[in-house]
Amino acid sequence: MKILVTGGLGFIGSHTVVELLNLGHEVVIVDNLVNSKIEVLDKIEKITKIRPKFYQINLLNKEDLRKVFGENNFDSVIHFAGLKAVGESIEKPLEYYDNNLTGTLNLLKCMRESEVKKLVFSSSACVYGFPKSNPIDESAPCNKATNPYGMTKCFIEQILKDMYASDNSWDFTILRYFNPVGAHSSGLIGEDPNGIPNNLMPYILRVAEGKSEKLKIFGNDYETEDGTCIRDFIHVVDLARGHVKAIEHMTSENGGLHIYNLGTGKGTSVLELVNTFNNVNGDLVKFEFGDRRPGDVPVNFAKTDKAREELGFACEKTIEDMCKDSWNFSKHKK
Ligand code: UFG
Repeated sequence: MKILVTGGLGFIGSHTVVELLNLGHEVVIVDNLVNSKIEVLDKIEKITKIRPKFYQINLLNKEDLRKVFGENNFDSVIHFAGLKAVGESIEKPLEYYDNNLTGTLNLLKCMRESEVKKLVFSSSACVYGFPKSNPIDESAPCNKATNPYGMTKCFIEQILKDMYASDNSWDFTILRYFNPVGAHSSGLIGEDPNGIPNNLMPYILRVAEGKSEKLKIFGNDYETEDGTCIRDFIHVVDLARGHVKAIEHMTSENGGLHIYNLGTGKGTSVLELVNTFNNVNGDLVKFEFGDRRPGDVPVNFAKTDKAREELGFACEKTIEDMCKDSWNFSKHKK
């Protein structure tokens, strides 16, 4: 298949590109490099021995995007490009809505013009907001995100549902990710956020690298076994494999609009993750307990039956792998 990957040099995008290339798909990347680096293209080439065609363009510029569609005959699109920092989205809602929604609308218009009708969209478990119970299944109430970043995911999901209702020749697969961590086993690609990170694993790595003294664990008085929040951490390579499964599932027999959780189905506490990191990599991360972070969901993990039954997708990597591979990438980066 010839696949356009937007945001293909970002964290999840780059790992997905590697998996697609390894399976013989042809990939074209568009990325504006706002939160990624051009060197990632060299790393993808080093891992796969293939250098995908790359366009540095912003999805807000529809003419540029139209040109990409004019020059290529795509079978399908995987759409990762978007701003994703929760805190920043609260400070700059207009920028987030403009970038994520307008970028997606431009992409959909170009797809329609070129009659490319298959799209895999990168959504998030944040659409569930505060879940009533766990594990969360795909039919749980959504449109519940607690910040503008998350709301952009809710709005885009709704746009896709409305488009499908108006024209069922579209094939849309919405993937709701839980908490992606880890890195490629080569150590060449991984998560490399600009500025001071606010997600857990990038922060753990910052402490392990000696750039911050201590990790603050936000809250140890939740109603969980060790008092810290519980998340469904998923290795980014497993997540990338989930995208390949999703895109390969979009055949004429399986057309339509589908929604899948991508997680392991297993809850791991923040403290367990930090302890595992220290066990597998040496005691590198000092931590202390602090106040709860406003807006945090106490417990969040996926029901994974639908992805397993329909896509044949199951995670293979352990929490140990996630911790080892994340640190291996950090060491390579230095
Ligand atoms: N945490 C700490 N200390 C830190 C950073 C995080 O204790 O320095 C804790 C948080 O309080 C939370 C857990 O680690 O309990 C995970 O926090 P993250 O910020 O890594 O992830 P969240 O689960 O809050 O958010 C993630 C994604 C969002 C997405 C959401 C959807 O980052 O983009 O999942 O479920 F919207």
